[in-house]
Amino acid sequence: MSLDGLVDVARGVISREIFVNESIYRQELEQVFGRAWLFIGHESQIPKPGDFQASFMGEESVILCRDRGGKIHVFLNSCRHRGMKVCRYDDGNTTEFLCPYHGWSYGTDGALVGVPFAKDAYGEQLDRSRWGLIEVAQMENYKGTIWATWDRDAPPFLDYLGGYKLYFDLLLDAWDGREGGTEVIGGIHKWLIPCNWKFPAENFSGDRYHGVSHRSVDMVGIGPSGKGRRDMQERNEARWLDVTFPDLGHSMIAFLRKHDSPIAPAYQDAPAVADYFRRCEEERTRRRGELWRLFGGPGTVFPNASPLARQPRTLAVWHPRGPHQTECWRIYLVDADAPPEVKDFLRHYYIRYSGPSGLTEQDDMENWNYAHAASRGTVARQHPYNYEMGLGRATESFEDHGLKLPGRIADVTVANASENNQRGFYTRWRQFMEAKSWADLKR
Ligand code: FES
Ligand SMILES: [Fe+2]
Repeated sequence: MSLDGLVDVARGVISREIFVNESIYRQELEQVFGRAWLFIGHESQIPKPGDFQASFMGEESVILCRDRGGKIHVFLNSCRHRGMKVCRYDDGNTTEFLCPYHGWSYGTDGALVGVPFAKDAYGEQLDRSRWGLIEVAQMENYKGTIWATWDRDAPPFLDYLGGYKLYFDLLLDAWDGREGGTEVIGGIHKWLIPCNWKFPAENFSGDRYHGVSHRSVDMVGIGPSGKGRRDMQERNEARWLDVTFPDLGHSMIAFLRKHDSPIAPAYQDAPAVADYFRRCEEERTRRRGELWRLFGGPGTVFPNASPLARQPRTLAVWHPRGPHQTECWRIYLVDADAPPEVKDFLRHYYIRYSGPSGLTEQDDMENWNYAHAASRGTVARQHPYNYEMGLGRATESFEDHGLKLPGRIADVTVANASENNQRGFYTRWRQFMEAKSWADLKR
């Protein structure tokens, strides 16, 4: 299907069809989810040999697994004989995946190891080496997060991240500025919502504009210090930057503190926690130089993985389930070596804030669900959405007191918001939908 007239990023006009149309959705599964690097899980969720966890790539069930030798794999969760799911558990530890239909079994390295009545039924015919579990074309362990793609021609993961790495690292690096050093705390929140997957993906990419939705959580004060939704000081003192990479599709809401700002006191009602974060921020200043000033917020790694790089630190995935439904998964990250009382403090905050039980995300779901429902009708879908906010007001050469930041950046400190990031997301989305292969996408 041609996207002419449906996605006009230059004018800030996007048709509702791309959210509700069945054939556009099927094209997305092939051309976006069949090609892009997708988030699978975190290595801390499968620490021991034989550990596995079920996950998804688009609509397809996959198994994230650490084999008996310790190597991590991502397999299609489908038996090579007749397609039965070989793993029907959310997670666990195993020596093999035994297909319940006819009993073929696969090692944790994917090899076909067991075939009932093999000699009599197949004789010499069956070449087991050709019938192991289907493995992804490429996999990457990036600072503990596991990513995979079905496309052999996709660029290496670090090229896929490109300049966005600087911002994405704000989620994965330890709070004191050390590289990596985060782990998952608790399980995975999983829930279904009746809207297209792009609603949450574009919201997280940079929707600062929807503050009115969260007025009640701000007033209730679910933040760590009981004031507002978060501890706001560093945010209130900072420059507000909406950062996008239109030719990659990744975006983030970022905050840049003034070059002479003092370290912001935080979590003052919990002295042990306040102490931990103060020490971390002092270290961070020492380790990161001028970049200590950069803080992250919500973002989206194209297409459907959304970091929230400040407290609460989370990574959400928006798994497509048809044009009209999304299966949301969310994990929570903490510094692996933080003291137990800090982890526990954050765990409680995460529960209050995010996921289906969290007060903030409930507000968002209400909007996405009703917006989707109200966009499906034959009349409604004839009228496009408006993405004009802040058009033409972004720079590719942002600099503040000698600190240069990559990306197309809209400084919204005064304006409060722009749709710079959403336009970046749909620029790349359109490229994926129109490109014939990765050769066209690597420009
Ligand atoms: S479908 Fe798995 S053994 Fe037949
Ligand atoms: Fe929100």
